[in-house]
Amino acid sequence: FRNLDALDAKGKRVLLRADLNVPMRDGAVSDLTRIERLAPTIRELADKGGRVIVVSHFDRPKGKRVPEMSLAPVAKSLEATLGHPVHFADDCVGPVAEAAVAALKDGEVLVLENTRYHAGEEANDPEMSKALASLADVYVNDAFSAAHRAHASTEGVARHLPAHAGRLMEAELNALTLALEDPERPVGAVIGGAKISTKLDLIGNILSKVDVLIIGGAMANTFLAAQGVSVGKSLQEPGMHDTARQILADAKARGCEIILPVDAVCASEFKAHAATTTVGIDQVPADQMILDAGPKTVELLKEKLAGLKTLVWNGPLGAFEIEPFDAATNALAQEAGRLTQAGRLRSVAGGGDTVSALRHAGAADQMSYVSTAGGAFLEWLEGKTLPGILALDALRGIIAPV
Ligand code: 3PG
Repeated sequence: FRNLDALDAKGKRVLLRADLNVPMRDGAVSDLTRIERLAPTIRELADKGGRVIVVSHFDRPKGKRVPEMSLAPVAKSLEATLGHPVHFADDCVGPVAEAAVAALKDGEVLVLENTRYHAGEEANDPEMSKALASLADVYVNDAFSAAHRAHASTEGVARHLPAHAGRLMEAELNALTLALEDPERPVGAVIGGAKISTKLDLIGNILSKVDVLIIGGAMANTFLAAQGVSVGKSLQEPGMHDTARQILADAKARGCEIILPVDAVCASEFKAHAATTTVGIDQVPADQMILDAGPKTVELLKEKLAGLKTLVWNGPLGAFEIEPFDAATNALAQEAGRLTQAGRLRSVAGGGDTVSALRHAGAADQMSYVSTAGGAFLEWLEGKTLPGILALDALRGIIAPV
């Protein structure tokens, strides 16, 4: 794909697909991460004299104008972050958008209303793609976190305009490539989460890529139970025992070492500061549940981390939202951060709860790279081709640089 180096934006109308699907509380943006990570691309395009037209979806209005899902407050946040005026238009295609674009001057920034107010967005309707493309001279996709969606603004539109990757997209792709496609070995992965059933494709793909696979969260309980360990009242999936055993056998055949907890922090209820017992993994009381990995597991995982050159992290080790069940996740995240800062480890994290778990541990800023993506990060780990990336790639060399 082409990045922004190859784009002379001066005087051009640049349709920038961003991911402004940001968390909101009481009508205001509650986490600026995606906006802050997008800002360098907008600044670069505006500084080069481009007329920057930002498009994004927000939430899931399903083709209707749902007022609570307007991008207007997000545009205000973007303006504050950029320290640069941001215009807003009440529609992303049609006369309102066209008039707003026509009024744009070089170096100005415009945010268009939620693309998902139109059913054609998610349907990847060619008419919607053409209408979006008609607003601009060039397309820049900076929305890695929406690249798993084959929608008009992420995929269809790239067929009609010269397409480039923005700086955030470029950073995400570089980080993920270095972590999984072309990593310095040994490479390990921490995969946590509640259910094997939702991470089967991910585990299947990652087994062939990593040397060490650390399994945490309630998912580990299913692996343990599948091997005959009594896990008491712990969350687990009895219907997945055969699958879990098959995964363990596949890993062995491929030379991937799977590491499961050797001890556990248990309680009879899942609530803050519940009375806990820490036991060896074969000693879980019948009336209790595993809520975190224990200290012996943490020591073992730290040892394993010390032998790695690359680490991919997705999902917490325990029920980190509630103390004291955040201890193992905190300790391992802090160790990964320390090794990264010491130059001994390249660490890449992303997907779902992962970023909040790392933030909670105070380790997010110590990682080599923290992805802004949830679902797209997971699909990348599953080895899937993301349509938004494919659209950039497919056009490589076909349309001459503008
Ligand atoms: C995300 O927040 O992961 C992306 O913006 C995609 O949102 P979606 O799951 O509603 O398509």
